[in-house]
Amino acid sequence: MSTLKVFALVGSPRRGNTWRLVELFCTILTRFAGSLDYIIKRVDDFHIDFCDGCQRCIIEASKCHIEDDLDLVKGYIEKSDLFILASPVYLHNVSAQLKKFLDRTASWCHRPPFLGKYSVVVATTAGSGLLEVLKFLRGIVTSWGMICLAEIGAIMPTDEFLDKEKVETMLENVAIRIIRIVRREAKPRITAEDIVNFKHWKFKILEASQYLPHDYEYWRTNKLLDREYYYVEDIVEIPHEEIEKAKRIESQYDEYWKIIGKIYESGGIYINM
Ligand SMILES: Cc1cc2nc3c(=O)[nH]c(=O)nc-3n(C[C@H](O)[C@H](O)[C@H](O)COP(=O)(O)O)c2cc1C
Repeated sequence: MSTLKVFALVGSPRRGNTWRLVELFCTILTRFAGSLDYIIKRVDDFHIDFCDGCQRCIIEASKCHIEDDLDLVKGYIEKSDLFILASPVYLHNVSAQLKKFLDRTASWCHRPPFLGKYSVVVATTAGSGLLEVLKFLRGIVTSWGMICLAEIGAIMPTDEFLDKEKVETMLENVAIRIIRIVRREAKPRITAEDIVNFKHWKFKILEASQYLPHDYEYWRTNKLLDREYYYVEDIVEIPHEEIEKAKRIESQYDEYWKIIGKIYESGGIYINM
């Protein structure tokens, strides 16, 4: 049996709760995988600079001109069979450290380089913002082309798990399923939110094809424009109920698009008072 490689990127500045949860999950994965190597790094373990907003990676599809460790991190992700993206909840959002890194990957959302790579997202909180951050992280890895296998969140008001035994039992169940999927013994299921995310990107790519021809070409050559999702059904399970739920979620956007239409009509300015 081949050795599975896991790479985890943690957004916390410290080796704290998020690190502990990721490490516990990795040790549990190791127990069930037979043979597994894992590497856990904080964003702060790398030299990552802020995006300077030039947008050349998006518009010209050129390599980022900033010389730092972005390619090194990308290399770690490329070599892994499973990528874990983790953040503490800071003010109902991801940490600034992680956001700094994620901004540098905007072109990965436009032209997803990790089609079909398995991923898990992880977050910890003292109580609030957990689901929002997990949803955001899932949206990011999905936009990079990955298959998100699980969202794992923990409420940790102190530097301890609330009930470590229960946490371990839950993680064991997740680990067993994930190992089966990564070993291709089971198919991953995608969610309605994943489908909606894909549709939004496809819409943007088609709408902006004149201004972002590199994106359009990438989606065309990777046959993404003909699809209802990043992958065809022999790779992922696309449950009927999730397709129906996706339609309902999309219809909730009608109101949102109406407001955006009005903003266009008002010369692009929005005021709420
Ligand atoms: C700057 C900062 C902002 C935080 N914001 C929130 C928050 O909005 N909601 C919350 O429930 N916990 C918040 N917390 C608590 C952390 O989410 C929680 O302690 C988390 O487990 C810390 O993970 P870490 O040890 O990996 O950094 C915040 C903590 C810090 C340091």
